[in-house]
Amino acid sequence: MKILFLDQSGKPGGAELCLIDIAKPYGDRALVGLFADGLFRKLLQQQHIPVKVLTTQAIQVRKQSNLLQSLASVGKLAPLLTQVVQIAKEYDIIYANTQKALVIGALASFLARRPLVYHLHDILSSEHFSQTNLRIAVTLANRFASLVIANSQASQTAFIQRGGNAKITELVYNGFDSQQYKTSASEVKQIRQSLGLENKFVVGHFSRLAPWKGQHILIKAISKCSPEVTVILVGDALFGEQDYVQQLHEQVREMGLENRVKFLGFREDIPQLMASCDLIAHTSISPEPFGRVIVEAMLCGRPVVAAKAGGAMELVEDGVNGFLVTPGESEELAEVINTCVAETEMIASMADHARAIACERFDMTTINQQIAELLSQRFQKPVHLPTEGN
Ligand code: UDP
Ligand code: GLC
Repeated sequence: MKILFLDQSGKPGGAELCLIDIAKPYGDRALVGLFADGLFRKLLQQQHIPVKVLTTQAIQVRKQSNLLQSLASVGKLAPLLTQVVQIAKEYDIIYANTQKALVIGALASFLARRPLVYHLHDILSSEHFSQTNLRIAVTLANRFASLVIANSQASQTAFIQRGGNAKITELVYNGFDSQQYKTSASEVKQIRQSLGLENKFVVGHFSRLAPWKGQHILIKAISKCSPEVTVILVGDALFGEQDYVQQLHEQVREMGLENRVKFLGFREDIPQLMASCDLIAHTSISPEPFGRVIVEAMLCGRPVVAAKAGGAMELVEDGVNGFLVTPGESEELAEVINTCVAETEMIASMADHARAIACERFDMTTINQQIAELLSQRFQKPVHLPTEGN
């Protein structure tokens, strides 16, 4: 089966990193079409996944656009659509990985007469999207998609609550290659030394800098913790949230935490950095659709505290394989951090347990197989994935 994957972003957000793992086993039978150029293209190329940047003209439909703005920008997309339709004729399926990809993918599916799969990485709620964009996403998915793969129960439920057709949805969690999250003690030592983190209790936050990811909550929380508690913020503003970056820097200055909060920017050595932390905090103040960083922390054998909402609640069982705290509550987060500082043995064994569960539950080979089976069932065509090691 040949698959044309579509993604609107040139930047590597979680949905894009997930797509790398899904597209890889298809080799030359896949093409990833992007609506923007950037690091994501390079990461796909590094993995030898065929990729083509289909346009470099920015698509202006913002998360909060109204109907008129949305339609006006769709009108400008004719050249992109024409190209996608041409390419789609050489593939068996169109697989849209983001909302703007769904818009183009839906129209192309109709014009090229190819079935459409929509991988839903979002919680379709008014916390995240305008009413117009919610309506467009649900209407197009219902009308054109044969299969909607939801990245969590939370995403699946929100889709159905908004009027999405339950019969076409399937739940598939992100898959991970647990081998990639193994690191050596010497790598950890080297990172802690180079970042000046020796003798510190390091809380890591791994996420793009965006208000809903709640980095400000973590900064506030550590002001209530003992002075050895230090934060590393790993990630950059990927989608134009420069004001928030400024605000975070100001908050750190005003609270006098310059020596305890380090901004590391976007990094590609996530496993090594995670392994160098004593605790990993996820602090989203709006429900997280899935939350790759939570699973990655577990795979690195590090304890994790997550905001109790959305997909995070499907990943963490409070007190069993991590901690859950009320979103936006810095006091509660500070209490968990303090417990972790005091109870190092308890959290180490919790993290070991979490790693064992995560390795099995989110195994990439199994999850890719699950997707292949869904595709072959829906489209009555065998899907052959290479066996491991090929
Ligand atoms: N990430 C990264 N470099 C960074 C910060 C984050 O590669 O500097 C990765 C992180 O490891 C995770 C992804 O970006 O795999 C973020 O995905 P998640 O699902 O947590 O959140 P999203 O940003 O997609 O909402
Ligand atoms: C999106 C979501 C994130 C999820 C990722 C992969 O970027 O915001 O929660 O983990 O997709 O499915």
